[in-house]
Amino acid sequence: MIKSIKIFDTTLRDGEQSPGCSMNKEEKLEVAYQLENLGVDIIEAGFAISSRGDFDSIDTIARHIKTPVICSLARARKEDIDAAAASLEQAENKRIHTFIATSDIHIEHKLRTTPDKVIQMAVESVKYAKSFVQDIQFSAEDAGRSNWDFLVKILSEVIKAGATTLNIPDTVGYMTTMEYGNLIKYLKEKVSGIDTVDLAVHCHNDLGLGTANSLAGIYNGATQIECTVNGIGERAGNTALEEVVMAIETRKDFLNSKTKINTREIMRTSRLVSNITGSFVQPNKSIVGANAFAHESGIHQDGILKQKQTYEIIDPEAVGLSQNNMVIGKHSGRHAFSDKVKELGFDLTVEELNKAFKRFKQLADKKKEVSDRDIESIIADEVYHAPEIYSLEYVQIVAGNTTRPTACVQLISEEKLIEAAEMGAGPVDAIYKTIDKLVGQEIDLVDFSIHSVTGGTDALGEVTVRIRDEDKLFIGRGSSMDVLVASAKAYLAAINKMLSFGSSR
Ligand code: KIV
Ligand code: ZN
Repeated sequence: MIKSIKIFDTTLRDGEQSPGCSMNKEEKLEVAYQLENLGVDIIEAGFAISSRGDFDSIDTIARHIKTPVICSLARARKEDIDAAAASLEQAENKRIHTFIATSDIHIEHKLRTTPDKVIQMAVESVKYAKSFVQDIQFSAEDAGRSNWDFLVKILSEVIKAGATTLNIPDTVGYMTTMEYGNLIKYLKEKVSGIDTVDLAVHCHNDLGLGTANSLAGIYNGATQIECTVNGIGERAGNTALEEVVMAIETRKDFLNSKTKINTREIMRTSRLVSNITGSFVQPNKSIVGANAFAHESGIHQDGILKQKQTYEIIDPEAVGLSQNNMVIGKHSGRHAFSDKVKELGFDLTVEELNKAFKRFKQLADKKKEVSDRDIESIIADEVYHAPEIYSLEYVQIVAGNTTRPTACVQLISEEKLIEAAEMGAGPVDAIYKTIDKLVGQEIDLVDFSIHSVTGGTDALGEVTVRIRDEDKLFIGRGSSMDVLVASAKAYLAAINKMLSFGSSR
């Protein structure tokens, strides 16, 4: 019989913990809606006690997302579990996920306690969590470096206490594939009551083995995979959702397993997460990289033309890469544009559609063909995730090899036009100094990156910036055929987020 594997998505918790991937509440909700479309079984929405912002995000997701189980993380402590339970109050389907470290190194140096005390804390936490909800997940943090017989002992106890899912994290991505598979097999054989619960794999990618280890776990009896979109996460990241899902789908002959994921939503989900977090997907990334389905060499192209399967193991349409080549350009009207937007999976309000259509027309006047990626970039740019406290009205730059770069910028704020001019070391520096002057503070720019949406010198340029306010990072992105205009928009988008959401995160 084909085994059903649950997909537990932790993009909004473990993924969001990675440097520079923080999201605000509205962005998390947008990702959660898309995860629901994608068909994940469980959404880990955050770590309720860690901040007011995390708590509010879980609560918001719990109020809006109805099909997947919404999960909230808690250490094995009463106050954490209280916060997790409160954050889930409005959820239709809810899970509390409690964890404690089980490796000697963590018990001795981090928790400064004894293995017996760890078992006691785990059991008490599971019992306490059970007083709020029935669906309880227990994780043995750093299971990858824990004593296997200690794991058998603690896991058997938490099942007795009421845990319904047991998770075996390779927290530091230390295990090799054979070893991790053997560990899952050992636990399946030794833990009492294991067949009455779900067994989950949670593999970090420090040695690049996240996907391989998760599949070894499935092969040896695990029934749930924990993963993130694009593999984002602490250090080298978590197991990538798109990789495990497509491996299970493509090799069902060998793995004899299936998931409920609607694989056609994979590309859209990947792009959404990449746009929102500002973390680019490397071109050769499996499944979702720009080159994942590109065939460059003559021999491969010849093979593909004769029979696709010669060099293609996945049909690109299966992951949502559109093969519908309806090209739209300057003669396309609002109707064709709106159809295209729907085909790309966006559900825009009339106001958002109007804004995006105006931008599309401006672009189409300059560019013969407007690609799907251009449209996605316009939409990402126009559908704001923060109120526009400052919006760009005008930017003009004087620059060149014999000139001191100077920017003149006009912004609209509270319906008033404000303007200033500044010089800088380069044109971007001049623009940013001018904007700093207009918003009345020196912004701490942490990161600036630029890339072109498509090929060609008439491509849209996409700029992503990260700015810091105390210990919080805010991401802004902007696109335009003029990279300096894109730079100004990205900076303002980040500033608007900082001013709107700074105090709640
Ligand atoms: O990697 C890890 O150990 C975790 C736990 C909190 C499940 O993310
Ligand atoms: Zn983790």
